[in-house]
Amino acid sequence: MSKNSKFKIGSGSRKGYVSQFQIDTPIIEFTEKNNTLVKKNKIYNKSSENMSELLDNSISLTVTSPPYNIGKDSDLNLTDEEYWDLMKKVFTETFRVTKSGGRVVVNVANLGRKPYIPIANLFTQLLIDIGFLMRGEIIWQKSKGANANFAWGSWRSASNPVIRDIHEYCLVFSKHSFKNSSENESTISKEEFMESTLSVWNILPARAKKIGHPAPFPVELPEKFINLYSFEKDIILDPFLGSGTTAIAAIKNKRFYIGYEIKKEYVNLAKKRITEETS
Ligand SMILES: C[S@@+](CC[C@H](N)C(=O)[O-])C[C@H]1O[C@@H](n2cnc3c(N)ncnc32)[C@H](O)[C@@H]1O
Repeated sequence: MSKNSKFKIGSGSRKGYVSQFQIDTPIIEFTEKNNTLVKKNKIYNKSSENMSELLDNSISLTVTSPPYNIGKDSDLNLTDEEYWDLMKKVFTETFRVTKSGGRVVVNVANLGRKPYIPIANLFTQLLIDIGFLMRGEIIWQKSKGANANFAWGSWRSASNPVIRDIHEYCLVFSKHSFKNSSENESTISKEEFMESTLSVWNILPARAKKIGHPAPFPVELPEKFINLYSFEKDIILDPFLGSGTTAIAAIKNKRFYIGYEIKKEYVNLAKKRITEETS
């Protein structure tokens, strides 16, 4: 590893709701800088490739799962080049709005079998190229295996056995510094800290049909990142908000949220879920 390698090793009780954490309450501004007021607890129905509503260095933590480009309802229908160009724009904007010391978590699954597409590696490289420092990755184990899919490839034959993924990745990055500081409180218990700092998390997946979105993650996933990587009253961003799961996790843990979602129907779904699950 060269001296200048960007991969060089660096040094390196929840619940209880308060009215100010309710939805769409454009209260306190991040800063008075340039007389710009930025709303908290807000969903923007637009593409996150441009987050001009947000000030530079204003977000403490982003937790998100990007759309893929493979034809599900929540997916995009772009060429590979257009897709990666869009992802580059969104995460460059995310870098701009993230505070120094702030964190970004990207949840992705690898896809395909012929060949297998290592999407997690591609996102890792993209964020490193944008300038993020990688902190590590969590393997989100979604099942013990009994219910995993039955696409064996070849059954009990070495001709073409297929690996059945029961995990996804959560890639974790920092901006500028691994250390973050705040006058506000951390909210993580001893037991949760011990568990959340391990690299494998066992969390059951969310039920897409029940929620009404094709690719939601469970509230517990952003909730664990919020408690591990942010302080009370911090602002949590999800540039691909979908059904609003990150916002729900933020409010339940006394943080604020900002979300971007391009589809109006998912914005409405997110607002409904936020109201129902946090009041
Ligand atoms: C994988 S889903 C996120 C699901 C979310 N984590 C949840 O729990 O519901 C990705 C979402 O990004 C939205 N999306 C796609 N392109 C977008 C863009 N350019 N800007 C904002 N949202 C976008 C899709 O409509 C979809 O709802």
